Amino acid sequence: MYQDWEELEEVCKNCRKCRLCTNRTNVVFGTGNRNAEIMFIGEGPGADEDAQGIPFVGKAGKLMNMAFEGVGIKREEVYIANIVKCRPPGNRNPEDDEAEACMDYLRNQVMLVKPKKIVLLGSVALKNILGKEYGITATRGKKIEKKGIIYLPTWHPAALLRDESKKIDFWNDLKSI
Ligand code: URA
Repeated sequence: MYQDWEELEEVCKNCRKCRLCTNRTNVVFGTGNRNAEIMFIGEGPGADEDAQGIPFVGKAGKLMNMAFEGVGIKREEVYIANIVKCRPPGNRNPEDDEAEACMDYLRNQVMLVKPKKIVLLGSVALKNILGKEYGITATRGKKIEKKGIIYLPTWHPAALLRDESKKIDFWNDLKSI
């Protein structure tokens, strides 16, 4: 574990631990307040994030920003990261070995941020952080405490683009945090 953000970011940006490094434009390390009370964890970068090196800047990110505004969360106050930091080709889900290879970076980020609450955006974040036995439909909106951190699984913002009826849950979940 690195105690220093600069060192962690540098190592992460040069990472070649899994096949996702071969097609990346940028490593999407994470963004926001490094002392945030609330951390958001998504799945992995899409095309826009890969191009800019910043998480949640594409369509799903814009929708998330709107939800943040709606419930009074400032993007710069929270910390945002992903399960994998390089874009899976064609936006497929990360493979288990890719998520595992990347997990130490995320663990290190959580250790440094020390958030009180972590919002898990979608099934990939939920399963990789809390365990494969958890399903997003059954657990979304329910707060789960583990080792002093409150986890809140909710829909991935991209799911809201496919199914508008999920927006209200997402808004309510964000409000509850
Ligand atoms: N979807 C994610 O899970 N993460 C991003 O950074 C962008 C889209």
